[in-house]
Amino acid sequence: MSAVPNSPRLLSDEAYRLIDKALAKYPNDQKLSAVMAALAIAQDELGWCSQPAIDDIARYIGVAPMAVWEVATFYNMFDTKPIGKYKISVCTNLPCALSGGERAAQYLRAKLGIDYKETTQDGQFTLIEGECMGACGDAPVLLVNNKRMCSFMSDERLDGLLAELRKE
Ligand code: FES
Repeated sequence: MSAVPNSPRLLSDEAYRLIDKALAKYPNDQKLSAVMAALAIAQDELGWCSQPAIDDIARYIGVAPMAVWEVATFYNMFDTKPIGKYKISVCTNLPCALSGGERAAQYLRAKLGIDYKETTQDGQFTLIEGECMGACGDAPVLLVNNKRMCSFMSDERLDGLLAELRKE
């Protein structure tokens, strides 16, 4: 595998320090194991994982850009295109779909005026279908920006969440 030797450094010193910390958890010949952590760190800092960011991670870790790209495009928590300030991932897998997940997603689509994988015109919200979040009993469930879990999302609670996020 060949890395990208001359790609520019895109991240802050703090971000590279965090990537070093992730790398330190694995043997030298297992650097690929740190790719997920590095992508999460880059996405937190840059908002999404652009191709230059992926090249930078590959260069820094010392792996092929394609290996980083494969991880970035496999997991739906990573965004390889610009997204809104808040990414809302609604779980529509079967258990949730049967327990209000589809309805909640439909409510959000109507409320935000967008379909899945679209962003509102003001750049505030991107809506996607999420995979099982291991909280099927709490349906409808959603994640905000991959980190904040929201459970039992009735229409009222969805309204409350959107109002809260719009205020931030
Ligand atoms: Fe939605 Fe499991 S199917 S959390």
